[in-house]
Amino acid sequence: MKVLVINGPNINMLGIREPAVYGSQNFQDLLKFIEQSAAEEGISVDCYQSNHEGDLVDKIQAAYGVYDGIVINPAAYTHTSVAILDALKAVAIPAVEVHISKVSEREDFRQISYAGKACVKTYAGLGFEGYRQGLLFLKEYLKK
Ligand code: DQA
Repeated sequence: MKVLVINGPNINMLGIREPAVYGSQNFQDLLKFIEQSAAEEGISVDCYQSNHEGDLVDKIQAAYGVYDGIVINPAAYTHTSVAILDALKAVAIPAVEVHISKVSEREDFRQISYAGKACVKTYAGLGFEGYRQGLLFLKEYLKK
């Protein structure tokens, strides 16, 4: 089982950006956590991060026929990007939406998720653990 983990803008700034919201661990810590979680579950994982909407769309398109599942934290593009939503729908690869923070308890403008409309599951507010839950969910989901 091959899973692509995609992170959007500013996730590479973890550890520096708003530690009260996103915690003190940095992006390298997140990558290590994802790789270790995937290895424990026997999942082959590739991680990708970009600050650019079109690059994220390109990566989702390129996943077609290559990956069995996608775990995606589109970050700020969650709340604005119809292009990412359309790309996820186009490839129709089962996708799980992850947010480090509890977006439901944050600003009004964060209450809409376009990408989430193409995802089979959402985890928010669990910190890094949300990515592990996303991998576990896909493992079970893809068995069916
Ligand atoms: C985020 C939540 C988004 O609202 C925000 O723009 C991010 C990160 C999260 O992981 O909690 O950049 O996706």
